[in-house]
Amino acid sequence: MAATGKGMVVSQSILIAGSHGQVGQHVTELLAESERTARAMVREESQTDEMAALGGEPVVADLTDDVDHAVEGCDAIVFAAGSGGEDVYGVDRDGAINLIDAAGDAGVDRFVMLSSMGADDPEAGPDPLREYLIAKAEADEYLRNSDLEYTIVRPGELTNEPGTGEIRAADGLELGDGDIPREDVARTLVAAIDFEPVYGETFEILSGDRSIEDALEAVGSS
Ligand SMILES: NC(=O)c1ccc[n+]([C@@H]2O[C@H](COP(=O)([O-])OP(=O)(O)OC[C@H]3O[C@@H](n4cnc5c(N)ncnc54)[C@H](OP(=O)(O)O)[C@@H]3O)[C@@H](O)[C@H]2O)c1
Repeated sequence: MAATGKGMVVSQSILIAGSHGQVGQHVTELLAESERTARAMVREESQTDEMAALGGEPVVADLTDDVDHAVEGCDAIVFAAGSGGEDVYGVDRDGAINLIDAAGDAGVDRFVMLSSMGADDPEAGPDPLREYLIAKAEADEYLRNSDLEYTIVRPGELTNEPGTGEIRAADGLELGDGDIPREDVARTLVAAIDFEPVYGETFEILSGDRSIEDALEAVGSS
C-alpha cells in the first residue's frame, strides 16, 4: 500500500477473483484506469490475452485449487467470482473460503466480497436460489469471522444497462424493489477498497439517486 499526498492509504495491487466475469471485467478496467495493478485472476491460460487487453495483469488460478501464487504480494482482494449455479458449495462457498484463508496466510488483510441480496436470510429466498444463498451466506460468515478487514456488498438483480454512478445502499433493502447495472456494482466494489468507513460493513445495494461515494459514506456512518 502507498500513502497519497492527502495521507490516505491506497491499495496499489488488487487481485480480482472472477476477473473474466461480467462484473469482474468492469472491476479490472476501473482499477487499470486508476493506474493500479489489477491482478486479473482467470481459470484458463486462453483468457489471459483478453484480460491484458483490459489493462489487467493476468494470473491463472482456480478457486477450487491452490491460489497462494495469485494472492502473493497483493494489497487487497475483490471477490467477483461465482459458480453461476453450477457448483455453489464448491465455488461460491468453499472457493471463497480458500481465497480468504490464502489471503490470511499471505498477510493480505483487505477483502471486498461481492455477495447477494437474500444472503442475510437464505430460507426466505426463492427455491431455485436457496442453495446458492446458503453458500453465499456461509462464505460471508466465514469472512466476517476471519481476521481480515472485510466489506461485504450485496446487490440485487444485476443488469447489463450502462452504469449511472448512482445507487441506494443500506443494511436492508427490499428484495425485488429494483435492480442494478453490473457496472455500478463494479464501481461500488472499487470505491469500497480503500474507503475505511465501510471496513467491517455488510450492506445491500440497488440503483438509486445518490452518488456511490455519498451512499458509502452514509453506510459507514449509520
Ligand atoms: N446475477 C445476478 O442477478 C446476481 C445478483 C446478486 C449477486 N450476484 C453475484 O455476482 C457474481 C458475479 O456476477 P457476474 O454476472 O459477473 O457473473 P459471471 O459473469 O458468471 O462471472 C463469474 C466469474 O467467476 C469465475 N469463476 C467461476 N468458477 C471459478 C473458479 N473455480 N475459480 C476462479 N474463477 C471462477 C468465472 O470464470 P469463467 O469466466 O472462466 O467462467 C467467471 O469469470 C455472481 O457470481 C453472483 O454471486 C449475481
